[in-house]
Amino acid sequence: MVEPKFFETIAPAYDFLTRLFMGGTYESMRKRMLNEDTSHMDILDLCCGTGYICNTIEARRIVGLDQSDAMLARNAKVKRENKTLIKGNAYQMDFKPEEFDRVYNSSASHEFKLFSRLIQKSYEILKPGGKLIIFDIYQPKNPILSFFMNTFVRYVVERGIMFVHTKDEWRKMLQDAGFIIEELDVVRGLYIFARVRKPE
Ligand SMILES: C[S@@+](CC[C@H](N)C(=O)[O-])C[C@H]1O[C@@H](n2cnc3c(N)ncnc32)[C@H](O)[C@@H]1O
Repeated sequence: MVEPKFFETIAPAYDFLTRLFMGGTYESMRKRMLNEDTSHMDILDLCCGTGYICNTIEARRIVGLDQSDAMLARNAKVKRENKTLIKGNAYQMDFKPEEFDRVYNSSASHEFKLFSRLIQKSYEILKPGGKLIIFDIYQPKNPILSFFMNTFVRYVVERGIMFVHTKDEWRKMLQDAGFIIEELDVVRGLYIFARVRKPE
């Protein structure tokens, strides 16, 4: 797990730097994550940061969880009546079984040595038919992209602490938790996108 201190320092510049690093992927992936009508749903933005998902999505109830005070403080600048921000460690999240229709996790899975635990936890707190939507960097097969991921991204962007998985590993983690895979795609060679459903 990345040192919490890092996000306390980077928070003021986070949105700017992420847009710069991701280029057009920043908006296109948010659009893809939010490509359905969720206005009647209860949603959790897990590791919500400054609000990439939870300040854009339309939902009945929006819960954002993150462990960084500074990231949450920036998030809270966008006032939304139905939004609740919770400070906490995602490994210890404490929600009721079947509480949410959707769980989103964007650009955060690589912070977790044991992300499969969060996948299992997400399964428990989703309603039957509910979906987990994940977007993040991944472990490319292509040797050039893999070199880029494990040098520049790992040591310059992520300060040496980064946990990435191949597409096959993602498929296994998601299926082992019981999810039905609707979408599992590599995006622009560097990112993984997953939309998976808990059976009815
Ligand atoms: C790269 S940011 C992504 C934020 C946001 N989801 C986005 O897409 O812009 C990763 C976030 O994960 C949070 N985070 C990392 N480890 C965490 C943990 N164990 N529990 C809760 N939040 C965590 C960090 O504080 C940070 O806000």
